Amino acid sequence: MENKKVLEIKELMKNDLVDSVDMNKLNDLKVKYLGKKGLITLLNSEIKNIPNEEKKEFGMMVNELRNDFNNYYENKKQELESALLNEKLSKEAIDITLPSKKIKRGSLNPMTRITEEFEDLFVSMGYTVFEGPELESDENCFQKLNLPKGHPARDAQDTFYLKDEVENYLLRSQTSTAQVRAMEENIDKGPIRIVCPGKVYRRDEDATHSHQFMQIEGLVIDKNISMADLKGTLEVMMKHVLGEKTEVRFRPSYFPFTEPSVEVDVTCFKCGGKGCNLCKDTGWIEVLGAGMVHPDVLTMSGYDPNVYQGFAFGTGLDRMAMFKYGIPDIRTIYGNDLRFINQFDRKDDE
Ligand code: PHE
Repeated sequence: MENKKVLEIKELMKNDLVDSVDMNKLNDLKVKYLGKKGLITLLNSEIKNIPNEEKKEFGMMVNELRNDFNNYYENKKQELESALLNEKLSKEAIDITLPSKKIKRGSLNPMTRITEEFEDLFVSMGYTVFEGPELESDENCFQKLNLPKGHPARDAQDTFYLKDEVENYLLRSQTSTAQVRAMEENIDKGPIRIVCPGKVYRRDEDATHSHQFMQIEGLVIDKNISMADLKGTLEVMMKHVLGEKTEVRFRPSYFPFTEPSVEVDVTCFKCGGKGCNLCKDTGWIEVLGAGMVHPDVLTMSGYDPNVYQGFAFGTGLDRMAMFKYGIPDIRTIYGNDLRFINQFDRKDDE
């Protein structure tokens, strides 16, 4: 009879466990079977009513029942817990097919771009990039470039001078100062091949002139350097920056620090030389000044003009960028307006 009761409880317990669909119900079952007044616990108190010879067997059955419950309980618990976890995981799943948020990485200012383009080209031809200070002495900016005090050609570069104790210092008006510095740093070391990009300052301000702008200077000093080397170099440079079809033309000009001096034009990149509003119907656009380094300039900075010759050129990088990228007003380059800068966004962002 008692065995029958054990079997009944066992059957009930199995059904209960199968029906328990959450942890609360499962824990209620633990109380129902193993609690102080639980069905299995109570079986223990019945042992006294069992005839002696059956006690052992009965005890074993009750123990077995308790173990069964515990095993069922543990299995069910794990089952419920992993179901809970799976449900949570599926709810929190990340949809990796959703497009990501676009990361704004900013872009290079057109001046940085064009400067790097020039630097890369010249470095590939064996030049080094040379840097000079923006605050320069009158001597380096003018005197050693054949522009003594009072020289009328200084007027064209009227600039920002410092007063009083630092008299004779100014914000450099041209990167040609790099010619003097490079030669003086290189005396007795032979040939020079440098480009010097950097900021220069003049008292100008309108749509095509800014009080601060960028130039790049080139200087080559060696034995047997001629105008042909200058022309070849400038042709390579202009084709690289403005396109292979670009042609270069030299016009005689004057700079105090070069002799002979030239003004260099390129075929108009807008009309290809046919004539348009950009080139004022001439087919040509003036882009830089250049020439053979004046013997007096060589001498002043320690190079013997009977042994060495050189060429130099200088061009406005802003002007180049304006041509290349079609920028109508130089002031926008320095204006920090995102609507302008974003137009030069990195291509790989698109
Ligand atoms: N420094 C000159 C200018 O600013 C350009 C130049 C450089 C001319 C080198 C000749 C040689 O106008």
